[in-house]
Amino acid sequence: MSEVQHGLEGVIAFETHIAEPDKEGSALRYRGVDIDDLVGRVPFEKVWGLLVDGGFEPGLPPDEPYPIPVHSGDVRVDVQSGLAMLAPVWGLNPLLDTTEEDARNQLARVTAMALSFVAQSARGIGRPMVPESQVDKAGTMVERFMTRWRGEPDPRHVKAVDAYFTSAAEHGMNASTFTARVVASTGADAAASLSAAVGAMSGPLHGGAPSRVLAMIEEIERMGDARAYVKRVLDGGERLMGFGHRVYRAEDPRARTLRRVARELGAPRYEVAEAFEKAALEELAARKPDRVLATNVEFWAAIVLDFAEVPAPMFTSMFTCARTAGWSAHVLEQKKTGRLVRPSAVYTGPGGRAPESVDGWN
Ligand code: ACO
Repeated sequence: MSEVQHGLEGVIAFETHIAEPDKEGSALRYRGVDIDDLVGRVPFEKVWGLLVDGGFEPGLPPDEPYPIPVHSGDVRVDVQSGLAMLAPVWGLNPLLDTTEEDARNQLARVTAMALSFVAQSARGIGRPMVPESQVDKAGTMVERFMTRWRGEPDPRHVKAVDAYFTSAAEHGMNASTFTARVVASTGADAAASLSAAVGAMSGPLHGGAPSRVLAMIEEIERMGDARAYVKRVLDGGERLMGFGHRVYRAEDPRARTLRRVARELGAPRYEVAEAFEKAALEELAARKPDRVLATNVEFWAAIVLDFAEVPAPMFTSMFTCARTAGWSAHVLEQKKTGRLVRPSAVYTGPGGRAPESVDGWN
């Protein structure tokens, strides 16, 4: 292939047994299992096990209490740097030198620590860790996560977060998963792969949209008229957050699942969100009849996380917790290929020329 594929769109770089969105059919399956059959029915640690191991055993070890090493005031920064530090702290071997079983166990430990770091960082600077005696070791992964964050979590919030984690656990070859695979392909350790993926996810083009959905919902609540708001936004040439998708040409299946979760949980903003969605879909269909502009995951994720009282600046880190599952599965799959990822670029710079003298150098 000699043509440049900007953004690698359409380039098939890997084979995977894990998942790939069904773009036309509006479905997402993890190793063949539809997410709608998992969300709200199977706890996140088993979904991690399904993605990484292919079975339904709880995939994650009991998490280890370990104080977060960095407290910068920014959860993402704390988690990314905390994960990077695990390699020397735990003496992790590079993936190149581990067995598959060791690599898998490293990924499980690193994932458990990522959730612990998010919980600890979310408590805020100066608030001590929740005593371990308060954490129910027999509880689910999300129960332990929420306890470490809040002390005594509301069980309905635990359900909402578990549902969100499962629905966002994996989504094929997105930017952060690709990053995790590239780092794994160099033979680096599991913590290096996952911390690099956290960095890739931090950009607004990947991990940062649901908070903007909430801002729109708040504005509709102020105006009291979803239809008028939608028209105002579109007439102003702006986009409606939570609609459209680069991959799906049908409804994002995760939106469907999270809409069900929001309804079942009785999310307080369910009705205003539904009115917004209805007005937006009608207006978008009328204005763009040739293009399917349906609801995407960010829309209903915002409502479910809002129900769980997750503050908007935390949304990306919640996404990080969820996606540790997909990243881990892909890192392990990449290790099995044993192939370094090393694409090419077409050189378009100046032709051969003599070096210019630079002040201070002879
Ligand atoms: N609101 C209004 N118009 C839209 C929207 C929207 N949400 N999405 C696309 N359009 C319009 C565009 O203005 C464009 O119209 P034009 O042809 O007249 O210029 C047309 O539809 C095609 O838009 P593209 O940007 O080419 O569509 P693409 O598929 O590349 O974009 C994207 C996908 C970026 C998600 C886009 O739909 C968008 O900006 N949505 C709003 C932000 C959002 O919800 N992001 C979260 C996505 S989900 C996720 O990333 C996990």
